[in-house]
Amino acid sequence: MSISELIIRRPDDWHLHLRDGSMLRAVASFSSADFGRAIIMPNLVPPITLPEQAALYRQRILEAVPDNHDFEPLMTLYLTEATRPDEISHGASSGLIKAVKLYPAGATTNSDSGVRDMQTIMPVLEKMADIGLPLLVHGEVTGADVDIFDREAVFIDTVLEPLRRRLPELRVVLEHVTTETGVNYVMASDNNLAATITVHHLIINRNAILAGGIRPHYYCLPVAKREKHRLALRAAATSGDSRFFLGTDSAPHCDSVKESACGCAGMLTSPNALGCLATVFEQEDKLINLELFVSLNGPKFYRLSPNSGKVRLFKTQVPFRFPEKINTENGPVTVFDPMLPIYWHVDNMG
Ligand code: NCD
Ligand code: ZN
Repeated sequence: MSISELIIRRPDDWHLHLRDGSMLRAVASFSSADFGRAIIMPNLVPPITLPEQAALYRQRILEAVPDNHDFEPLMTLYLTEATRPDEISHGASSGLIKAVKLYPAGATTNSDSGVRDMQTIMPVLEKMADIGLPLLVHGEVTGADVDIFDREAVFIDTVLEPLRRRLPELRVVLEHVTTETGVNYVMASDNNLAATITVHHLIINRNAILAGGIRPHYYCLPVAKREKHRLALRAAATSGDSRFFLGTDSAPHCDSVKESACGCAGMLTSPNALGCLATVFEQEDKLINLELFVSLNGPKFYRLSPNSGKVRLFKTQVPFRFPEKINTENGPVTVFDPMLPIYWHVDNMG
């Protein structure tokens, strides 16, 4: 008999871009409606590099969340070559800073202040290993000589593996893993390494971006890979393995900058993330493991309790109608279209 209802702990999103100002006000409620907490990416312009900036940003996020939503933003700092170990430990000991984000310089949207030379950040990483603060890595090298589809695998070989050998106690999340290589690397490692997986990388492969025309709304970084990688991600996400958990990487950009001769990377997936995930887990006959992926594995890695609230996921004969676009002061933002009907709806039970 097929399952048509599932009650699970309220999920969390372990990788989310909420932006700032009018964009923040336009998108925040989509996350706070369905998720109890989210790890907030710090790649604003300028980036959030100091705990004082993170505290103010946290306040702005809370103001953008509707009063009747129970949502806790978990703040991160953007690691630069100038970050000092004491800034990190001060932010972590106050309870404000839950992780630090490493962007290789130039790897993705708003990453210009990122790290060029890993050697310069070793004192910070040693401090983080000492205090158990997770390092979140955008796992792609940036050299023009490396093919864009190989950047994650090359990052693992040339940056992540040497780092883990040098500092095995450092707790690391390979963010938005997109390859079979990445999945296998995490599976073969100890519990100090985990990975987030997005909704869209479970649903699309690179054909969505390129076959039959260029579709900028399916362009994100790391770029979607070929089908065998999508299948490896689906196997990992639905396996129940506690080292894999949801990070939507919902990353809104206005249509005007996506639909361009040089369109930017990132897509808005928060409005339909849970319905899409329930569909994926149902297709894999693994609905039983959905709660592990969205609600339990993440808090376990971050050493937090699962949320006490619950959500009800239920299936109807009528597909869930999510908006094609949402409006912002700076124009519309296209919502991720999974290109398949989503029959799963979400009901927040508090
Ligand atoms: C993100 C963004 O727009 O901030 N874009 C993306 O394609 N995922 C940055 C990132 O996480 O790489
Ligand atoms: Zn991201």
